[in-house]
Amino acid sequence: MRRKVIAGNWKMNMLPNEAIEYIDKLAPLVKDTKNEVILCVPYTDLFYALLTAQNTNIKIGAQNMHFAEKGAYTGEVSAKMLKSINVEYVIIGHSERRQYFNETDETVNKKIKSAFENGLKPIVCVGETLEERESGKTESIITKQTELALDGLTNEQVENTIIAYEPIWAIGTGKTATSEDANNSIKAIRNKIEKLYGKDVAEKVIIQYGGSVKSKNAKELFSMSDIDGGLVGGASLDPEEFSKIVNFE
Ligand code: PGA
Repeated sequence: MRRKVIAGNWKMNMLPNEAIEYIDKLAPLVKDTKNEVILCVPYTDLFYALLTAQNTNIKIGAQNMHFAEKGAYTGEVSAKMLKSINVEYVIIGHSERRQYFNETDETVNKKIKSAFENGLKPIVCVGETLEERESGKTESIITKQTELALDGLTNEQVENTIIAYEPIWAIGTGKTATSEDANNSIKAIRNKIEKLYGKDVAEKVIIQYGGSVKSKNAKELFSMSDIDGGLVGGASLDPEEFSKIVNFE
């Protein structure tokens, strides 16, 4: 049985004092869960979040990174830098980064490789636009994104990649894919991984659903056969609401 992984994506929200207060509130609410709990926070919160989450079961991730280890990339942060302060996870290829910051399948692939080389675990986002969905291209788009993202990785690295299937039209809109739709898309991604890396890897890889996950719909989504938890944006900003999603059972 695969574990469930529930990750919060705070996006560009929360000052350090708010992050500390949030984690102090969340920690007792999720201490008994068997699910994995991750918070992906802005760079400026990372250090405070890591200190506050020490001795809890909450893990901390970043929301982006550069693929180079160091160099003349003003304003960027490398995987090595994140690892140096004990960050464990990093979101790569979120649709907002693809849309607003020119993230491509190629840079996503480079970033995943650099994350692994530096001991970070990537949470890789894939998902279709509304237009792509309406023209029946969902499956081909998300399986292609997956293939390009994972290109050149070892089986072991693929096994340790978390994939977040996030239909773009469902992000921040209050619209979710139906649990059947989300499960079918995730199955398509898993089948693609099976073709490329074998059944054993495909059965182990964690694939989350993301896009307007709330405490009200978490149970239905996360109980589906292939949905291994969620990447949660808006609803992760309130510790009580997020704890209900973590404790969805
Ligand atoms: P949302 O965001 O939960 O606010 O829809 C999800 C995400 O962007 O990861």
